[in-house]
Amino acid sequence: MSDHDQVKMTKMDYRPDRPKAENPVKIMDLTLRDGHQSLFATRGRTEDMIPVAEQMDAIGFWATETWGGATFDSTHRFLNEDPWERIRTLKRYFKKTPFSMLLRAQNLVGYRNYADDLAKAFMYRSVENGMDIFRTFDALNDYRNFETVVPIIKECGKHFQGCICYTLTEPRLGGDVYNLEYYVKKAKELEKMGADTICIKDMAGLIAPYDAYNLIKALKEAVSVPIHLHSHFTSGLAPMSHLKAIEAGVDIIDTCMSPYAYRTSHPAVEPLVMALIGTNRDTGFDIKKLAEINEVLENEIMPKYRHLLADNKVSIIDINVLLHQTPGGMLSNLINQLKDMDALDKIDEVYKELPRVRKDLGQIPLVTPTSQIVGTQTVNNVLFDKDGERYSMITAQVKDLCYGLYGKTAVPINPDVQKKALKGYSRGETPITCRPAEVIEPELDKAREEIKDLAVDEDDVVLYALYPVTGRKFLKWKYGKEEPPKDVLPKSLEQAKAELALIEKAKKGLVVEKSKLEKMPEKTENKRTFNVFVEDECYKVDVDEVGGPPVIRYAQPLQQQVAMVPAAAAPAPPSAPVAAPGAPSAPAAPSAPVVKKKAAPAKAPAADTSGEEIKAPMPGMIVSYPKKVGDSVDVGETVVILEAMKMENALAAPVKGTIKAINYSSGDSVPKDAVLLVIG
Ligand code: CO
Repeated sequence: MSDHDQVKMTKMDYRPDRPKAENPVKIMDLTLRDGHQSLFATRGRTEDMIPVAEQMDAIGFWATETWGGATFDSTHRFLNEDPWERIRTLKRYFKKTPFSMLLRAQNLVGYRNYADDLAKAFMYRSVENGMDIFRTFDALNDYRNFETVVPIIKECGKHFQGCICYTLTEPRLGGDVYNLEYYVKKAKELEKMGADTICIKDMAGLIAPYDAYNLIKALKEAVSVPIHLHSHFTSGLAPMSHLKAIEAGVDIIDTCMSPYAYRTSHPAVEPLVMALIGTNRDTGFDIKKLAEINEVLENEIMPKYRHLLADNKVSIIDINVLLHQTPGGMLSNLINQLKDMDALDKIDEVYKELPRVRKDLGQIPLVTPTSQIVGTQTVNNVLFDKDGERYSMITAQVKDLCYGLYGKTAVPINPDVQKKALKGYSRGETPITCRPAEVIEPELDKAREEIKDLAVDEDDVVLYALYPVTGRKFLKWKYGKEEPPKDVLPKSLEQAKAELALIEKAKKGLVVEKSKLEKMPEKTENKRTFNVFVEDECYKVDVDEVGGPPVIRYAQPLQQQVAMVPAAAAPAPPSAPVAAPGAPSAPAAPSAPVVKKKAAPAKAPAADTSGEEIKAPMPGMIVSYPKKVGDSVDVGETVVILEAMKMENALAAPVKGTIKAINYSSGDSVPKDAVLLVIG
C-alpha cells in the first residue's frame, strides 16, 4: 500500500457541510482565463464573467485565474476593453478568492523580453490593480528572466508561483534533456528564489499519468513548498494524470467549469470533486453549487461564443500531440499558415522538420512565444529551402533567439545555424551569455513621451509601451478620439440566439421559406447548382437568377491576371540572410491574424520602372521598407521587412542597383507574389 496511501477512503458523506477532509486537494479555477483562451481565442468579455462571479467566489477555490496570458492583448485589441479595468471590476465581485495571473516573466504579457524599467512598472501596476498570485514562467525555463519581476512580487507581499514548463523530447518523460533530474533541479532553483508554490506547467497536455505520479513524488521529496499541476486536456491524458498526481501527493490542481472544459482546455472540476468524495483528499466543494454556475454559463454565456469554438470535429481529443509532439494551438497555427500559402499538402514535411528545427534551436520548450518561433521557422524551411541548403529564410525572432535575447536554451544551439542567423545581425555577430534584459535599452520613458497626448495615467502608458500599435488605437477608442469598429462590439444573447436559430433553420433547409412564394417558379436551363456548407453538413442548392442569366459586359484586364501567375519565391539569396534593423524585434501583431485587411491586389510595376522585381514569397503585412526610391542597394542588403505568420522576415536584394519603385507602404497586407519593389 505504500505507494497509494496518499489517498485513503474515509467516509462517504455528500452533504455540503460535511467535515473537512484531512488533506483536501486545492483547486484553482481557470474558466475566466485559460478556459476561454483555450476554447475561444481569449474572447471572453468581463460582462460575461460578472453573472457567475459571486457564485464562483462562494465555491472555495484556492484561487481563480482571471488575467495574464493572452488576455491583456486580446481585451484591448479585439474587445475594446481596458485590461486593467477587468481586474478592478472582477475584484468587486470576488470578495475572498485570490486572483492569479499568468506572467511570462520578462516577457510580461507580450512576446519578447522587455526592458527592466517597463517590467518593473508593469509589476507595480498589476499589484496595485488587485493581482494576488503571480504564476511566473519563462519559455526557456531560464530563471534569470525572473530576476526583475520576482523581487517586486516579494516586496509587495504577494504570492510567487514559479513554473517549470513541462516539455519532452521523447514520447514519455526521460531522455537526455527533459528527465526527472531536470525537473527536480529546476524545482530546487525555484525554491531557492523564494517560490511560495511550484507549478508544473504542462501547456500542451503531454504529461502521462505514471510520469505525473513519478514527477510529483520526486518533487515532493526534493522541495518543501506546495506543488501545483497545470495540464491541458488536449491529448486526453489530463484527467488520468490529475488522479495519479493526487495519489502522489500533489497539493493544487487546475480545472475549469465544465462548459469551459475539455478539448484544448482543461479537465472539468465536477468529476474530480465527485471522484474525491469519501477520501482524505476531498475538495469539500458543493457539487450542486457548481451545477448552478454551469446552468448560467451554458445557457446565458456560451451561446454568445459558440461561433468562436475552434472546430466542429467530432473527436474531442487531438492525438497529434502524442504522435508528433505538436501542441494543439501550434498545430492549428501551422495548418492556417500552410493554408494561407496554398501548401497544405506539405503538412507531413512540416511534422518531420519541426523536431529538427527545435533541436537546432536548443531543444527549447514549445510555449508562447517559442512555439510561434519554432513553428514559423519550420514552415519557412519547408517552403523556401532548396537543394540541401537549410535556413534560407530566417525570421528576426530566430536571430534574436540565436543571439541570446530570449535566454539560455536547454542545450546549445546548432553552431552552424547560429552563425548563419547572426551574419550581419544588428546587435553583433557574437551571442551574449548574460541575462537578456541587460542588453535591452530602457523603454518606458520613450513610450511615455510618444503617448503623452493620449495617456491619462500610468496604466495607459504601460499598455502603450507593451503594445504600441494596437495600444494607441485602443486609447483612441477609450478616450473618444476615434469610433471603435463594429467587430470589437459585444454580441447580445438575443443576437446570438437569433444567429443560432438561423443556423438551425439552414440545417433543415428552411432558410428560404417556400410559403412566401405565391407559386413555385419553374426551373430554367440557366439554373446553376451550388454546394452550400453549413458547419459539417452540405446542401445542394439550385440557383436560378430572376430575369435570366447575367450578361458579362467586360473582360478582366489582362495585366491583373499576369500579376497572379506564381513566380519564383524567396528573393533572398540563401547565403546572405540579413537581420531586421532595430531590436529586440517585437512581432508587430503577434496574435492578430496575419492578413488583417483584405489583401490588396498585386500591383503591376509602373510603366517607367523595369528591373528585378522583389515579390512576396508568402502573404503577409509590410512592416517597413528600409530604403527609398532612388537609393542604391548592394546584393544582400535588406530592402523590405515582411511580417508573415506572426514573425518578421527580412527580404534581401538579389542584385545590386537602384530602387526603382516601391509598391506598398507600412501596414499594407500583400498577397503571395505581389511585387513589393523593383530594383533596376
Ligand atoms: Co495553460
